[in-house]
Amino acid sequence: MTMTDRDARNAPELARTAVSGDSGRDALPSGAVRVLRDRLKANDPVWLGYHVLDRAAAKVSRFFDGRARARERARDLPGVNTREYNRMLWTAYDWSHDGEEWTPSVEWRESVVTEVLVPLLPSDADVLEIGPGAGRWTRELSPRARSLALADISERAIELCRERFAAENLSFLVTDGNTLPGVADGSIDFVWSFDVFLHIAPVDQKGYLRELARVMRSGAVAVIHHPGDGGSAEGWRSAMTAELFAELVADAGMRVHRQFSRWGAGDRFSLPNSGDVITVFGPPA
Ligand SMILES: C[S@@+](CC[C@H](N)C(=O)[O-])C[C@H]1O[C@@H](n2cnc3c(N)ncnc32)[C@H](O)[C@@H]1O
Repeated sequence: MTMTDRDARNAPELARTAVSGDSGRDALPSGAVRVLRDRLKANDPVWLGYHVLDRAAAKVSRFFDGRARARERARDLPGVNTREYNRMLWTAYDWSHDGEEWTPSVEWRESVVTEVLVPLLPSDADVLEIGPGAGRWTRELSPRARSLALADISERAIELCRERFAAENLSFLVTDGNTLPGVADGSIDFVWSFDVFLHIAPVDQKGYLRELARVMRSGAVAVIHHPGDGGSAEGWRSAMTAELFAELVADAGMRVHRQFSRWGAGDRFSLPNSGDVITVFGPPA
């Protein structure tokens, strides 16, 4: 089959339309007509009716989801990411795989440890991990820390960590979801939280950031993985954005050192979801 000049000119637009149409994203008007004609020819009118309605419904759904997320950020509402729901969900969760079900590969896990965690973790540090779950990252932090405080909203997660880690340098805390009672002012050198703030509402992240400003020593470093795109990606993500997180860090009197979502030689590793970000920050030295 040969391509006419017009086809060739329209090819990039058609490709974008086909791809975006398939993922339920916005269709481009001129390409869309041709794509729909092709789909009608290959299927039948009833199928096309369902298809068009499905695309329209997806667009309406995205619009209202965007409005709801914006309202959560503007009015300090938790949306679906309430503290109580987090507590219930993670308490009922099947932890039999220790959270390793979220690890894409052994190589990726190793890269998080050797290329993200270890270079940022000071030696002989007093460490705080927020949301350890069953201890996927705790097992890396525990042998490298002088002391390690584990804070989780789920009593079940804290019980699991108590059973799994017997080291004397560990302490355990069930939190209310946005404060750190019992963690002394200016007592922490390093904070780690991975796959946790993804599910915490911006209003509660704000609470934690104020608390981190209180408990971190000057020059301490926090490494927090959170949504960067307002939670539009899948996986019950909260409405946090990279920009809002940076603003909240500054409001709490701390400084952002870096925000990134890729690492390693040639940026060959990335967060499992492209909308997410890691922010490295802390109080001034
Ligand atoms: C997806 S799991 C991740 C666990 C672990 N960090 C990992 O990467 O395997 C989320 C964890 O965050 C905890 N969590 C959720 N909301 C929290 C909050 N507001 N404060 C502290 N922990 C929270 C949950 O109880 C659960 O242990």
